[in-house]
Amino acid sequence: MARILITSAIPYINGIKHLGNLVGSQMPADLYARYMRQRGHEVLFLCATDEHGTPAELAAAKTGEPVADYCARMWGVQKELSDGFRLSFDKFGRSSSPQNHRLTQHFAAMLDQAGLIREVSEKQVYSIADGRFLPDRYIEGTCPNCGYDRARGDQCENCTKQLDPTDLIDPRSAISGSTDLEVRETKHLYLMQKNLRGELSDWIDSKTDWPVLTTSIARKWLNDGDGLQDRGITRDLDWGVPVQKGDDPWPGMEGKVFYVWFDAPIEYIACAGEWAAEQGLDDAAWERWWRTTRGADDVRYVQFMGKDNVPFHTLSFPATIMGANRIEGQDWKLVDYIKSFNYLNYEGGQFSTSQGRGVFMDQALSILPSDYWRWWLLSHPPESSDTEFTWENFQASVNKDLADVLGNFVSRVTKFCRSKFGEVVPEGGAFGEAETALIADLTTRVRAYERHMEAIEIRKAAAELRGIWAAGNEYLQLNAPWTVFKTDPDRAAAMVRLSLNLIRLYAILSRPFIPDAAAEISEAMGVEDAGWPDDVAAALEALPAGHTFTVPDVTFRKITDEERETWKAQFSGVRG
Ligand code: 2FM
Ligand code: ZN
Repeated sequence: MARILITSAIPYINGIKHLGNLVGSQMPADLYARYMRQRGHEVLFLCATDEHGTPAELAAAKTGEPVADYCARMWGVQKELSDGFRLSFDKFGRSSSPQNHRLTQHFAAMLDQAGLIREVSEKQVYSIADGRFLPDRYIEGTCPNCGYDRARGDQCENCTKQLDPTDLIDPRSAISGSTDLEVRETKHLYLMQKNLRGELSDWIDSKTDWPVLTTSIARKWLNDGDGLQDRGITRDLDWGVPVQKGDDPWPGMEGKVFYVWFDAPIEYIACAGEWAAEQGLDDAAWERWWRTTRGADDVRYVQFMGKDNVPFHTLSFPATIMGANRIEGQDWKLVDYIKSFNYLNYEGGQFSTSQGRGVFMDQALSILPSDYWRWWLLSHPPESSDTEFTWENFQASVNKDLADVLGNFVSRVTKFCRSKFGEVVPEGGAFGEAETALIADLTTRVRAYERHMEAIEIRKAAAELRGIWAAGNEYLQLNAPWTVFKTDPDRAAAMVRLSLNLIRLYAILSRPFIPDAAAEISEAMGVEDAGWPDDVAAALEALPAGHTFTVPDVTFRKITDEERETWKAQFSGVRG
């Protein structure tokens, strides 16, 4: 059995995330974590809120709360929603945790010791109207790379290029819109990433099994010449991890904090510390996941993220790790596999947090149970290209895959059995050619499903699962036990016995995708402790004649045209 460390990009604290955010990291990471646990592997699945930086400060200013209170409250909101979507994090931590403060300061000290930090006196944009230095993302302007006119000072979301605010053409304050900006002198720490370029490049080259989306973005920024600049890792802000060299002060850096993009990925590590502390475990318990000489050499570390995050996770964060590891005794684990995603669009445009366009996590759960969303998102992930959420498509998927195929199979079989044999697996009859063929087909399909899940080919895995559900319906349709029953009740009993076992099999296989429905079905079927169907034929005899069950309630309901139209109108406009 393997040990698998899984992290999904940690969501910003300010505001509730939309379905596009969800499908771009947390949801697929959860699918993978659930599957791997079910296969018997030891999994540590971590996520957290990304709490530092100006967005949090400004959002708190808006609600009138102290920023620490705002973050604590919003962490609670995000935690509740992630529970609502059944995201099975072992720990949903906070980048503002004491563990992350300590570790961020530790990494900075190690990088400094390795000679990879230099002080730079730089000119920074100060907004006179706002009375403050403007952090990178609060300066907007035209991207020098692609011409997009709403590029932010840290990154252009159109072409993903990492930017410095002074690169922007026609800059303005994103807080007030003011162009009354002046450049002032301030001192900051720079991480000398250029010194790590060779090491990073070799490392990326060694990742021949990574998705093309991941490596192509990494290579683009490595090879573009200006892709791997030394990078400022401190900011003139109040809210964040104070700049210190480990526990010691950093002369000249008083009153400054680390840049949010420096401390956020370190939270992946700190979060394991938060997890251990919460469990009452010692440091060794989390270090065996993160420190290569303390057990983490055996760990497979998989990260999930949207494509805009890829440069930070293929270059910046690995630079932090590689740089720190130049110091004797430092042995931090690098990621083994990065699964990245394109964007999910919404009804012919983009999801927009500022305009409230699209469906947000709280709204989604207020109209339908999480499994409906999980199924749609996980069967339409933006893996090879951007994809689009439309209400038509959502309705069709739910009604067809969940209600007509899976739900209908479960209800038809259990109700037919109840009416002819009672709520008990019937005895008599034997499996024949039809069953042999079905078992052979399902064996092939289950093995393919496993391969897709291992490879994190989510869309393919969902398609295979749908095929597995459909195979049951086809079997029923073709063999019509309700007709056979009239002339050969024993033969019909064998068919029903097989079909009831198929329901059990579906509950096991579907669990990573639709955990609530799978649990409900398992419970109705009286299934406890169902192991993975390594042998499909054996799994289809797991429920013996005489085993009792109950007919489950309607597992999935259909979405009506009227609902579809109401929701389409409701979520198209300004969030209110
Ligand atoms: O893009 C985002 O939502 C960032 N908050 C992700 C940070 S991931 C990591 F580096 F910690
Ligand atoms: Zn651009």
